[in-house]
Amino acid sequence: MKQSLTFMPTMRQVPSDADIISHQLLLRAGFIRQNTSGVYSFLPLGKKVLQKIEKIIREEMEAIDAVEVFMPALQQAELWQETGRWYSYGPELFRLKDRHDREFVLGATHEEVITSLVRDEVKSYKKLPLTMFQIQTKFRDEQRPRFGLLRGREFIMKDAYSFHATEESLDEKYEDMKRAYMNIFTRLGLDFRAVIADGGTIGGTDTHEFMALSDIGEDTIAYSDSSSYAANIEMAEVNISYIKKDEPLKEVEKVATPDQKTIDEVATYLEIETDQLIKTLIFRADDEHVAVLCRGDHEINAIKLKNTLGATEIELAAERDVQSLLACAVGSIGPVKLPVGLHVIADHAVAAVVNGVCGANEDGFHLKNVNPERDFAVDSYEDLRFIREGDVSPDGNGTIKFAKGIEVGHIFKLGTTYSEPMEGTFLDENGKAKPYIMGCYGIGVSRILAAVAEQFNDENGLKWPKNLSPYDVHLISVNVKDDIQKELADELYSVLKSYRYEVLYDDRPERAGVKFADSDLIGLPIRLTVGKKASEGIVEVKFRQTGETTEWQKEEITEKLQGFFSTQ
Ligand SMILES: Nc1ncnc2c1ncn2[C@@H]1O[C@H](COP(=O)(O)OP(=O)(O)O)[C@@H](O)[C@H]1O
Ligand SMILES: [Mg+2]
Repeated sequence: MKQSLTFMPTMRQVPSDADIISHQLLLRAGFIRQNTSGVYSFLPLGKKVLQKIEKIIREEMEAIDAVEVFMPALQQAELWQETGRWYSYGPELFRLKDRHDREFVLGATHEEVITSLVRDEVKSYKKLPLTMFQIQTKFRDEQRPRFGLLRGREFIMKDAYSFHATEESLDEKYEDMKRAYMNIFTRLGLDFRAVIADGGTIGGTDTHEFMALSDIGEDTIAYSDSSSYAANIEMAEVNISYIKKDEPLKEVEKVATPDQKTIDEVATYLEIETDQLIKTLIFRADDEHVAVLCRGDHEINAIKLKNTLGATEIELAAERDVQSLLACAVGSIGPVKLPVGLHVIADHAVAAVVNGVCGANEDGFHLKNVNPERDFAVDSYEDLRFIREGDVSPDGNGTIKFAKGIEVGHIFKLGTTYSEPMEGTFLDENGKAKPYIMGCYGIGVSRILAAVAEQFNDENGLKWPKNLSPYDVHLISVNVKDDIQKELADELYSVLKSYRYEVLYDDRPERAGVKFADSDLIGLPIRLTVGKKASEGIVEVKFRQTGETTEWQKEEITEKLQGFFSTQ
């Protein structure tokens, strides 16, 4: 493609509303333009990268026998009413009416549409399993669209859905998908982790997220420094091998701690470490109050607590509820002599505390030398706390480290969450009607464009991996008015095209400095510059990844290029 004929508006200035590097560079290098908040156009360079990303995804989906479809973005409200998501989805769902006042949504996702498609056609177990995918535009009226393509309101997603007669069949497909996702993100060149995730609002039990590692990521991942263990910190189990100190149990002692409210204040005042403290929090789980204990240096993870209690909603009890329950302030609660009938659960670490310190359920006082079982009862010990950096990895291998990640993919086992309310059923071997068992599998295609840009750049611009680069070769003719240079550049352009290279040919009558700066900004893997040495048949070569430069004779170019592109 001749640069003079295409549309790649580059900018020297950093756009003021772009706060992360990938967004700045994709705008500056002319890959995308914003239309309005969270809504973007993909310009020719951006579109080309998208196509390469999509090609990899298609190949890996087809390799596990997923078939491609294309479903409507415009979806009748009735479908969403069947599953109840019309009422529960909230303001992220774009809703609209047609001229007859019928209600519609712009598809935020496609479980309803695909379930309705399949239920009308697939009536027998003999036609299962079935897996379909599409690459399509999704609409979500995100509260905070930000970071360019990373969180848009209109974005491109690959979504796949599988239908099964048995749990085992779903388990198999889920593993196939996980492997396909590993292949996809590896081929995309991303530094990523597959992490154990929380099901969230979509329902279902087993779920993994695929995270591209990046400091600007919105999620925190806990991973082992020596195994493949990785989990969203919300979900990371904690290894419970605590060592109980071997020291004699002392007498409980009540001590005055005037005005010492926080854990740190109390620890400093009593000259103890925070891990000697037992923290007691009163939560409201649906309609019941629960006392939740953990060590002073640990934090309760509300998601674990909610899952353990099987509650739909949990929140910290209101100050006045605590007052009426215990007659003390929130900072003075302790586990000794709690009201009879109050459910008490504790994090495993509490069981190993010896001669600990806790609130006395009386403002201004704490109890010293408190010991679990001897001085207070616990209904059950559970895994309730957030994992920390430095903890033993839950799989027993290595130490936990934290990293930030961008969620680029997400796979779920849905079970019958959608098929049941939508009456999507098939007849099993015994002629009995059963709801399909389903899985769903998403990849953020446009988000990946940004995630790759976030991982592959330097101070001069983008640095595309060879297999995602919009073009293979940037051919630059330094002075288009020089006949010798122009002739050689034209010749190379046509030869390289005949060798099936995708060539971006800068034939513009611009200054060399402008061309080189644009070229670094756009970031194709290799640049061939036809300049002063054209008369000797020599071109200058620059590798974007390493910054190395060299010279090649005209005759050796195709062979050298072949060598370059055949290595990763
Ligand atoms: N607003 C968005 N902009 C760009 N990509 C998104 C957006 N929301 C989700 N995605 C991509 O689509 C994939 C599947 O979406 P899903 O898991 O349903 O979204 P979420 O995690 O936001 O609920 C995500 O892993 C992510 O890569
Ligand atoms: Mg998700």
